[in-house]
Amino acid sequence: MLKIADLNHWAGGLIVACENGKDPIWKIHSFSLDMNSLYHLGTKIGLVTGRRLHTGQPGDTFSAGQKPIMEIRMKEADMAEANASNVALDLLRIHSIITRALSITSEKSQRFAQDGFPDASTKEGFLCYARSFVSVLHGHHLTENELAFPYFRERLPDAPYDLLIVQHQELVHVLDEVKAAIEEVSADRQAAASLNRLNQALRRLADLWHPHIGIEQDHFTAAKLEALINREEHIRLGKLFAEHGQKHMGPGYLVVPFLLYNLTPEERVILARNMPFLLTHLLVPVVWKARWASMRPFLLS
Ligand SMILES: [Fe+2]
Ligand SMILES: [Fe+2]
Repeated sequence: MLKIADLNHWAGGLIVACENGKDPIWKIHSFSLDMNSLYHLGTKIGLVTGRRLHTGQPGDTFSAGQKPIMEIRMKEADMAEANASNVALDLLRIHSIITRALSITSEKSQRFAQDGFPDASTKEGFLCYARSFVSVLHGHHLTENELAFPYFRERLPDAPYDLLIVQHQELVHVLDEVKAAIEEVSADRQAAASLNRLNQALRRLADLWHPHIGIEQDHFTAAKLEALINREEHIRLGKLFAEHGQKHMGPGYLVVPFLLYNLTPEERVILARNMPFLLTHLLVPVVWKARWASMRPFLLS
């Protein structure tokens, strides 16, 4: 069963799905599409089976199209078997997204400060990418402060939680400078001076970021957490932390592709396990495709 409310924080009220039965029905909520667009979307993910449209309400629950959805879920289940969940590995994955984005924004801000933006679309894509980076880093800190650290503190009391929280505060302070510089770049037609300010703030951020994640990764290792937490609990925590982070990041049409495509295809599939499948199979590749297209040059394929 799929529940519309489950996807609301990602999709801003959108849900598209189909029912089982002789004459399956597409249900759409808070989203206007004509019949051709709907069929285009459905064909892309192999779900089109019916012709009638029906408007759903928030909180509606209905059966999903059994066959295609089962096929997708089985593939993901295979991957889950091959890569046992471990919350330490989830932490490493989000760190690697942030580390890559920090390096890309630093490198590109320097290059664009020297050479200028080659065109308006590149500037737009860079701004979307940099804003997503800020949002994801902010969300990651909140998840650690509010969920991960309180949970680990009881089980791994020796980690320096107070130091890590102070470091988060220092990171947030520099992140505010990064955010301000991004908005200056956005408003500035020439942008070289703002890009240099952004680059300097990103360097200060990198000076704090690398030692900080070094401490986290030394203390919260896969081996330690494997010994302390059973597999079901790792899966539960993975989903809990992912949902918490995602609720504090946005907008979804930028942040979700940003998360997925700063990872290699192998790691991307593992991250996607903690996301609603309609998000990864319909919203990102089809519905939101044009909205994040300008970020493509900064992402992995
Ligand atoms: Fe942290
Ligand atoms: Fe972290």
